[in-house]
Amino acid sequence: MKDPTHELHRSSSRPGPAAGNAASGFNRRDFFKGAGASAAATALATSVAEANQAAAPVVVGPGMSKIKLDVNGESREVAVEPRMTLLEALRYGCGLTGAKPVSIDGSSGASTVWIDGKLAAANTTLVMDCVGKKIRTVESLGGSKPDAVCSAFLHNDAMQCGFCTPGFVVAVRDFLDKHPDASEAEIRAGLNGNLCRCGTYANVIMAALEVVKGGK
Ligand code: FES
Repeated sequence: MKDPTHELHRSSSRPGPAAGNAASGFNRRDFFKGAGASAAATALATSVAEANQAAAPVVVGPGMSKIKLDVNGESREVAVEPRMTLLEALRYGCGLTGAKPVSIDGSSGASTVWIDGKLAAANTTLVMDCVGKKIRTVESLGGSKPDAVCSAFLHNDAMQCGFCTPGFVVAVRDFLDKHPDASEAEIRAGLNGNLCRCGTYANVIMAALEVVKGGK
């Protein structure tokens, strides 16, 4: 016969710290391990969520959004749609109408501007690709002290309707900055990315040669 006192004593005895509960297979060590893993998982999930948030691209559009453009050394806030070209943003957002919409593929050269110091067709460049870049337009060559190229175009009557002229002025300035002693043949070759429907090529070349002779 079983001793009931003995049974009572066994059931009321408390297990030691490391003894565990043999019946449930779970002890405090397991509990603390689980709690630690849970906290680590929560921290990891939080840091992953924060990293995803930081890496998430900024969504612009499809409607109008305000962006900042660096144009002729000034920071300009412009409202644009993501589909807009740099030419549209310059003309309708900044009021800079020098660069012209002559050809839809940029082949006329009439919308020529500088982007980070390189010539580019503003009408085939998306404005969103210009954020953070330095844009320079033909207007930067004007003002109270116009650039020598602008003056030479006037002296040599190098324009008729004028639609191609801003693009030519930018192209001449860029070419002569790189080739200040260019010959006539070199100038002709160097400007072959610009077209003039009025046919003022001879006068444009004369204007460029005047700048070369003047050393400007
Ligand atoms: Fe008219 Fe050149 S002056 S297109």
